[in-house]
Amino acid sequence: MTISVQQNGAPLLEGKVALLSGANGGIGLAVAYAYLASGAKCVIADLPVDPSAGVEALLKKYGDNVAYVHGDITQAEARHHLVNATLAQFGQIDVLFNNAAVFDMGPLLEASEAQFDKLFNVNVKGMFFLMQDVANAMVKAGNGGKIINMASQAGRRGEALVAHYCATKAAVISYTQSAALALAEHGITVNGISPGVVDTPMWDHVDALFAKYEHRQPGEKKKLVGEEVPLGRMGVPTDIAGTALFLASSLSDYITAQTYNVDGGNVMS
Ligand SMILES: NC(=O)c1ccc[n+]([C@@H]2O[C@H](COP(=O)([O-])OP(=O)(O)OC[C@H]3O[C@@H](n4cnc5c(N)ncnc54)[C@H](O)[C@@H]3O)[C@@H](O)[C@H]2O)c1
Repeated sequence: MTISVQQNGAPLLEGKVALLSGANGGIGLAVAYAYLASGAKCVIADLPVDPSAGVEALLKKYGDNVAYVHGDITQAEARHHLVNATLAQFGQIDVLFNNAAVFDMGPLLEASEAQFDKLFNVNVKGMFFLMQDVANAMVKAGNGGKIINMASQAGRRGEALVAHYCATKAAVISYTQSAALALAEHGITVNGISPGVVDTPMWDHVDALFAKYEHRQPGEKKKLVGEEVPLGRMGVPTDIAGTALFLASSLSDYITAQTYNVDGGNVMS
């Protein structure tokens, strides 16, 4: 399913340029499809790996309106490159879908500094400084902008086996609030999306780790968390794309500093 919305007869994101991090698969790729179908031009960024089959198909479908660029967001040079490549390709950046992240877990009493550093480097440092680089480009251009940071229900409360990841996502929610206040005077809105459980490559990894630490069968945790969602199933990446599209568009111009639960009812606020 591809989402596309019109406003006053024109595609919702016509004339807009979006940079999406971690979009070689999962939620980022679904959001890229929604943005492109709604008239935006997109730069899809991910680690230096070959484009996935999904990205190959998207490049073929949208041709000159989309580019795939490598960039490890933990590296300053790579972050600058992502911003410069977007400006070189399309001349502007109107939307940042700040999505790249990694997951890990384990018993708290055995948690290592290496695991802490890995999660905070990508999920907090990379997330914050990519936002800063893009915000600087937006301020310089003077046309405002939309920043959407990917948080998680894990950022709303702790979990015994998932301490570092939960803490990184709580940080995303906090930086979203501070950045929204700092950037309001420049016409830049900053909001977050907090998914619950979404069936992506990340959740395959999560399921394998729960199988290890909770002595479960492969696939068991995934089935369980899906059944526990009030709407009765795990999310799929396109479940997130509608909110990502709304927050990138002028329909959300009077909304900033918010993090939206898009989770089938798991968290209430
Ligand atoms: N899947 C879920 O259930 C779920 C739930 C809550 C929040 N989220 C969040 O949604 C976002 C997308 O998750 P997903 O499930 O699609 O994950 P995913 O693992 O499928 O995609 C994440 C992408 O980020 C990329 N990435 C990792 N490290 C990077 C780095 N240093 N530089 C650049 N790219 C990097 C990966 O290569 C991958 O393509 C993440 O922020 C995640 O924390 C996901």
